[in-house]
Amino acid sequence: MIPAHLKTDLEQRVAAAVTNREAAVDVMKALQRHYGWLTDEALDEASQLLKMSPLQVEELATFYEMIYRRPVGRHVVHVCDSISCWASGGETLLESLANLLNIECGSTTPDGAVTLLPCSCLGNCGEAPCMMVGEKQYGRVTLEMGAEIVAALRNNSLGISATS
Ligand code: FES
Repeated sequence: MIPAHLKTDLEQRVAAAVTNREAAVDVMKALQRHYGWLTDEALDEASQLLKMSPLQVEELATFYEMIYRRPVGRHVVHVCDSISCWASGGETLLESLANLLNIECGSTTPDGAVTLLPCSCLGNCGEAPCMMVGEKQYGRVTLEMGAEIVAALRNNSLGISATS
């Protein structure tokens, strides 16, 4: 259950939006920040706040790659696997990070620190290959840079929230 201040804040955001649907991603991201991922409880709360059916919220949630309908680590690393990044070494970057983390792409390290996921184009194709952690994007990511970012996340020295 979300605290009263968060509920009030989200109600105000929904009221300020032109349509409730417009506020949906904002609401889901706020709930995700609170719970760590968009739990079933969070989905129900989003449904009530947005006055949309749980199915409608679920459809939106599954459409957005940055909304997580299953548990994720404290940090979520997205590596773009769309065409420009793929052609610029994105696949190798993804493999390299998976090897460094010793996990399969799509899974989370046993310590719960990092989840590694592929993602669609981040809209930064000119800087390929790209990755994203929380709200922060990284472009022209070399294998070394990727390794440094992941090491910093594991040491908690990058200061990025997984679900921000
Ligand atoms: S293809 Fe990766 S940012 Fe566009």
